[in-house]
Amino acid sequence: MVRASAILLRNIRQLLTLRSASGRSGARRGRELSELGIVEDGAVLVQAGKIVAVGTTRELLRHAWVKENSKRIQEIVCRDKVVLPGFVDSHTHPVFAVPRLIDFEKRTAGASYEEIAEAGGGIRASIRGVREASRKALTTAVLRAFNEMAAQGTTTIEAKSGYGLDFASEMKSLEAIRDAANAFPGTVVATLLGAHTVPPEHKAGPDEYVRIVCEEMIPKVARKKLADYVDVFCERGAFTPEQSERILRTAREHGLAVRAHVNQLTEVALERFEEFGPASYDHMDMVSAADLARLAKSATVATLLPAANYFLGLSHFPPARKMIDAGVGIALATDYNPGTAPTVSMPFVLSVACTHMKLSPAEAIVAGTFNGACALRMQDLKGSIEAGKDADLAIFDAEDFREIAYWFAMNRCSATMLNGHFLTTDKAKRP
Ligand code: NIG
Ligand code: FE
Repeated sequence: MVRASAILLRNIRQLLTLRSASGRSGARRGRELSELGIVEDGAVLVQAGKIVAVGTTRELLRHAWVKENSKRIQEIVCRDKVVLPGFVDSHTHPVFAVPRLIDFEKRTAGASYEEIAEAGGGIRASIRGVREASRKALTTAVLRAFNEMAAQGTTTIEAKSGYGLDFASEMKSLEAIRDAANAFPGTVVATLLGAHTVPPEHKAGPDEYVRIVCEEMIPKVARKKLADYVDVFCERGAFTPEQSERILRTAREHGLAVRAHVNQLTEVALERFEEFGPASYDHMDMVSAADLARLAKSATVATLLPAANYFLGLSHFPPARKMIDAGVGIALATDYNPGTAPTVSMPFVLSVACTHMKLSPAEAIVAGTFNGACALRMQDLKGSIEAGKDADLAIFDAEDFREIAYWFAMNRCSATMLNGHFLTTDKAKRP
């Protein structure tokens, strides 16, 4: 028997290529955000982890290589499927040891996220679990989350440290991300979030903790190539704009790219961070008119995380329509974390974006794929189904793309291909 050396997905009911109509390479804005590049009765040829050809089934069956190598091609008929680029979950916090059930229960009794954090819950409540956990135990938890994400169609994941909050525990967290990434067929981008909150032992002198982030963590991470990005939680109760600036400047000096949690609880003028060229500003539950105009002209993506608003029981959501109308490039991500967003599901995030932020299903799909890739500056490899790009595909049991955001709290993703490898779904199950 000849071993299949290529895979042909054929007779796809709706193939969403997300090919750009304009040919521009940056984040999709305004009307471009609705362009799915749909091919009916579509086909995709994959070889050695890459997309080789894309078109209608008729076109691909006539493709010279397909004709000559038919015996070496495994064909998969996808008549009742929608196939789209794998989701790019560009904002996750997967390195934690235990869920935060006390915070959850307190919120049901009426306490707010900030009140809980001030009383010793919040991010600080996750520190002990991570400090005490072995790197191996953290790796297992991270890998389980990656596989659970992939089972819902995610193929590229940005993963932050940020619950260790001392030098050794932040390094251990990034090593756990690296070890999990090595055992995962998808693509992982690591981010140092040593500046997630000030740990209790530095509460009286937060600048000493900022010094540790800048003088110890960032240089080591850059030297050991443990992360591509540095993130900071610039917020009341976390880091001031001045401290955040110092951290982002230090990251740039060490050759690391930057991103920032901003405008979740309080508004900060974004102009001060512009010189560091952040790939993304995340949360953005509020935005000033000046920053809206600034973002519309910039390559920085606004990554919206509505699962956090949902889980915190908030009635407000990021002003997505205002951003789209102004021409801002927006992305959607889960924010997977134990405090504000314990979900791995991009389809759920798309659903919330449609119901609460009034994105159309098409806009939500582009924001969760191509624009997510832009938020990680990986749009040359990820986020659309085009020849030469990585073979990252999400295959849904659906006949119409709108179903992806329509069904919620259920998983209609029937298979995921990550860099040419099909996920075996049992890996996503808990042991
Ligand atoms: O993105 N905002 C800061 N970080 C997380 C929450 C972290 C936590 O509460 O554990 C977020 O929502
Ligand atoms: Fe976050």
